[in-house]
Amino acid sequence: MLNDIELTNLRKQFPVLSQQVNDHPLIYLDNAATSQKPLCVLEAINTYYRDINANVHRASHALSAQATAAYENARDICAQFINANSSKEIIWTRGTTEAINLIANCLTTEFQAGDEIIISTLEHHANIVPWQMLAQRTGAILKIIPLLPSTDIDMQAYKLLLNDKTKLVAVSHVSNAIGTVNPIEDIIALAKQVGAKVLIDGAQGVSHWTIDVQALGCDFYVFSGHKMYGPTGIGVLWGKEAELNQLPPWQGGGEMIKTVSFEQSTYNELPFKFEAGTPNISAAISLASAMTFLNSYDRQILANHEAELLAYATAKLEKMPRIKIIGNPQQRAGGVSFIIDDAHNGDVGMLLDLQGIAVRTGHHCAQPLMQSLNLSGTIRVSFAIYNTKAEVDFFIKALNELQDLL
Ligand SMILES: Cc1ncc(COP(=O)(O)O)c(C=O)c1O
Repeated sequence: MLNDIELTNLRKQFPVLSQQVNDHPLIYLDNAATSQKPLCVLEAINTYYRDINANVHRASHALSAQATAAYENARDICAQFINANSSKEIIWTRGTTEAINLIANCLTTEFQAGDEIIISTLEHHANIVPWQMLAQRTGAILKIIPLLPSTDIDMQAYKLLLNDKTKLVAVSHVSNAIGTVNPIEDIIALAKQVGAKVLIDGAQGVSHWTIDVQALGCDFYVFSGHKMYGPTGIGVLWGKEAELNQLPPWQGGGEMIKTVSFEQSTYNELPFKFEAGTPNISAAISLASAMTFLNSYDRQILANHEAELLAYATAKLEKMPRIKIIGNPQQRAGGVSFIIDDAHNGDVGMLLDLQGIAVRTGHHCAQPLMQSLNLSGTIRVSFAIYNTKAEVDFFIKALNELQDLL
């Protein structure tokens, strides 16, 4: 765990944390929805617009060259951050959602009626709906891996779903709704035995751990910048170069072409083939700042810090008689979800907010998961590297007090 001095210094990097909300110091426990941004990210956005704003790749003037260099340097930093084989494998998108939609659209011609796509019960809507739409376009069939009572993925059921019709497996690294960590190495290895492509939704993985996409062996790993201390409006589609090369382009426009005539257009190489139009230049550059920021720490210490906070909070919640924690998975990361007997989740969220505590309530964009658990929603607390045990204590105290009001 980070010691007190390290944590104080780290928190100073996040100006938003020092504010009062409803006359209380802000306690931000909604990090799975989006994380706060360190000074270096704010400064990178500011510097970009103040000093170098110009469109990338297209002009011969100095500012454009500078913007292009910063933008492509950000891609290199991102490639190193996840150990991609080449920067060509890094496609900037608006976020996880757009990255999954891109792949689902580009795979259309590879699917035939009767082909199968496997996802799990734990998925965020972003990793369900694009595959449903692909299935509707092509006649493919969506198969769902059920959960064990622990809320772990049922690996035996998964093995039975796999067959030579399985063309794609798309699962999350970590459930945003209840924190279950999926055994993605095993999931990938089994999918590869039947020749299926694998997409990992890493929206809740990449902020917690060092990701090595080559070691994982999946075909696509996608994530959002804003959940890992970067800005909104930027995300990453990593794909194996050979896989990305096989796919047709998605959106048409500037940048993604080599030549255009009214009769025919030819397409650019990776990564530009998938980046039509003016990109979110400042966001890519400042996301790279967030990556450099994370790498300036021992990532294992940061991961241990978050894991300890989560274990600490979970143990305290478990001792509260009216609280039911959702799931008991082999490994939980990021956050924990719970309900309170006879209380409405939304009321709990509002009462906590009165104490300056930000949590998330509702279905967490995982309605099928909620249905499978027979819940309308949960209360979720989720942690980041800047949270403290004192914040957990304050949250638990507030929760104890408000239970009497409900
Ligand atoms: C597991 C998971 N997948 C996908 C998404 C969608 O991310 P975005 O809205 O940044 O595209 C989220 C966001 O909460 C998520 O937690």
